[in-house]
Amino acid sequence: MGKHITPNANSDKLFEQIYDFLLERIKRGEWKANEKLPSVRALATEFTVHRLTVFKAYQLLKQNNMVYVKDKSGYYVQPGNELPPGAQQDPIISAYVYDSHLSEIHQVQASYQFSKALLDPNLLPNRYLSDYVKRVFDLYPKVLGTYSTTQGDLELREALSHYFTERYRCELSSQDILITSGSQEAIDLLARVLVRPRDVVLLERPTYSPAIDVFQRQGAEIVPIEITPYGYCLEQVEELMQKYKPRLFYMNPTFQNPTGYTVPAEQRKRLVDMAAEHQCLLIEDDSNPDIYFEKAPPAPFFTYDTAGYVIYIRSFSKYIAPGLSIAMVACRPGIMNYLLKAKSLSDSGTPLLNQKIFLHYFFSERMQQHLEKLRIALAIRKEIMEEELSATSWQWSSPAGGFNLWIQLPESTIMDRLLASSREQSITFVPGSICDPLRDMNTRIRMSYSYLNEQQLREGLRRFISLYSELFP
Ligand SMILES: Cc1ncc(COP(=O)(O)O)c(C=O)c1O
Repeated sequence: MGKHITPNANSDKLFEQIYDFLLERIKRGEWKANEKLPSVRALATEFTVHRLTVFKAYQLLKQNNMVYVKDKSGYYVQPGNELPPGAQQDPIISAYVYDSHLSEIHQVQASYQFSKALLDPNLLPNRYLSDYVKRVFDLYPKVLGTYSTTQGDLELREALSHYFTERYRCELSSQDILITSGSQEAIDLLARVLVRPRDVVLLERPTYSPAIDVFQRQGAEIVPIEITPYGYCLEQVEELMQKYKPRLFYMNPTFQNPTGYTVPAEQRKRLVDMAAEHQCLLIEDDSNPDIYFEKAPPAPFFTYDTAGYVIYIRSFSKYIAPGLSIAMVACRPGIMNYLLKAKSLSDSGTPLLNQKIFLHYFFSERMQQHLEKLRIALAIRKEIMEEELSATSWQWSSPAGGFNLWIQLPESTIMDRLLASSREQSITFVPGSICDPLRDMNTRIRMSYSYLNEQQLREGLRRFISLYSELFP
């Protein structure tokens, strides 16, 4: 056992270090389920700390369901925290186990993929995009022989700085922009940089499922905030900020995934002020602000921010060119320095070719015109879906943009049965519980209307609805 406890640190820090030490080893499977852990006395001697300090660490592990106590005998590893069977048998694998609930669902092959909140590739101007690829090679003949800088291509960052300054009339310098390989990478990097075990992280309930997995992997203590068609209850947010002093609030406030809800403009400014007052960072994940059906959504939170509390993630991947996987993070210099270090340890820069193609494609007039067509095509698909669903008693609130319907099924639904039978019928959807930080919402489902064409949407929904009525008459 390696001893890495610093005896001179104050006792609060010491107890945290001992907690981390034990937690890390339990997760790696160094102690197996139901195995007895070292006694309080033994650890206190080993680390030259007071017994109470070790006791406090064990108490927290117990509270977090990592260990249990047997009277007069000591602490034991709670089953369920160990490595999966394959990994346990293989001593070479001693990594942490990461959950990625959504990607598991996406791995299922099906004819009617309502689980994919991705764009139908037929809705993109593919031939036009490939013309751009050729043009980029003419413009930058050495592009394949060059790495990007870690922060991202300067020409692209300058163009984005100009675009945001014009669009939202707010100052954003190219120095404050980092290009990432999709917004998923941005969430992951931010979590690595900002969150330590037991930091409190506020998440919307429900939220984008992989964000729960990322913050949980960091060991965050997750506190949910309900999101409704009217935004948040600001009194509740303030109360939670006061009570928990959270490190950050990860939010997806515009055409939210999975609900489609949008936080209204009047709440945005108040929340930015509140975050500054309670020193809680806001991570604003904005992945589809251009996919609106009637009017454009309110300006992002980050345009209201003057004190640097909002970190803005903007994906261009979902509806511009998923194959290029381009996103950006805008934040203040202090955070940027750490993000750059994390990014350089991850991939030392998003591929330059992708950045150059994106730069010329995104800012072209044709692309901007294409967005208009895309909005119409998606609005039609949403209407088709709502038309088919109107034959049921299911409930949802019609989104003003985005890719998904967040559907409330009758309370009598047994989700495991519905999931298994749907798979047999080659139909996939996202079960609500994986979007819920509390892992509840068992009668909610997310169905996307963006990936299937109009005919597949109708056919798939008819099959799904009839399957449902057979299962739960
Ligand atoms: C809210 C949200 N954040 C992040 C992502 C990941 O997007 P990207 O393709 O840019 O990694 C998605 C994709 O579905 C999303 O809906």
